[in-house]
Amino acid sequence: MLTVIVGGFFGDEGKGKIAGYLALAKKYGYAVRTGSINAGHTVVYNGKIYRLRTLSAGFVNKSAKLLIPPGALIKLDVFFREVEELGVRGRVHVDYNTGVIEDVHVAREREDPVLRAIGSTFQGVGVATADRVLRKLRIAREYSELREFLADTSSMIYEALNRGEKILVEGTQGTYLSLYHGTYPYVTSRDTTASGILSEVGIGPKYVDNVLVVFKAYVTRVGEGPLEGELSVEELERRGWIERGSVTGRLRRAAPFNYKLAERAIMLNSATCIAITKIDALFPGARGVKSWNALPRDAREWIEEVESKLKRPVVLIGTGEYIEDVVDRSRDLGVEL
Ligand code: IMP
Ligand code: MG
Repeated sequence: MLTVIVGGFFGDEGKGKIAGYLALAKKYGYAVRTGSINAGHTVVYNGKIYRLRTLSAGFVNKSAKLLIPPGALIKLDVFFREVEELGVRGRVHVDYNTGVIEDVHVAREREDPVLRAIGSTFQGVGVATADRVLRKLRIAREYSELREFLADTSSMIYEALNRGEKILVEGTQGTYLSLYHGTYPYVTSRDTTASGILSEVGIGPKYVDNVLVVFKAYVTRVGEGPLEGELSVEELERRGWIERGSVTGRLRRAAPFNYKLAERAIMLNSATCIAITKIDALFPGARGVKSWNALPRDAREWIEEVESKLKRPVVLIGTGEYIEDVVDRSRDLGVEL
């Protein structure tokens, strides 16, 4: 069984929290993270805040294997720091073909006028990706330091699927940062949609059981580019919607939930179900709630409106920062996660 988690807006929808919840609650044996170190996924678990840039938030499930697929890019210092901080050496597998970012890529990005104009995170990801396209990026199998981690992760996944195991694929960034489907040129250097994620992993579309699109209860964006309905900082403070980027620390721009974007994200990703995070930012009474009936009536009505407009079941609702702060409706709605 395979579930793909994909961001429905501009990243920072709370995919890390959803991946952590699913890995733990639904016992996924494999957690694969795509993308690269420009994307930070935050997980709050056991009283600790983790900001992950390489490994899947599914690490919270201690029996899950953590895979880095061929289409992902790692940076050795970030990778080793994360492996040690999480204490997961022994269950991390990096594909032979995974790309490796070096300091020169970061330096080249800082000088690039286009990347400055779009508000890049300057983590070297775009330039390393360009080098990969030009067939000159070094890949994981060329680094002796990585020897103990190297594996054929696509085959591992395929064999695990044939044994009936559960695979969680954690996408990074969001639909509208996609190089092809986003707000070009204010986008990142990869296709962030479900198909792009699967291509990075090396798994075909027919193996996918669930495409879970994650929307936050409001829309945020870091860096430049269009954001319909953008609110002033004063208004964000009033609403309690102030957030900072987990990689760059920049203030996130924000706007109310956008049905037009959400509808198109459902289409672009062929989403089968929806997770909504941070519902407590719209309905404070929802904070920390773990069952549907305990949600305030107006929160339930809003979720039902989302379902009827987007025509997909809202299976998970995030009600707080801890990974346990979730209303899980998957069983009630007949969705096997
Ligand atoms: P780059 O991919 O770092 O060059 O950044 C390109 C654009 O995508 C910038 O506007 C970044 O702020 C945005 N971006 C990249 N990664 C993320 C992410 O993980 N979350 C939100 N925005 C991101
Ligand atoms: Mg983030």
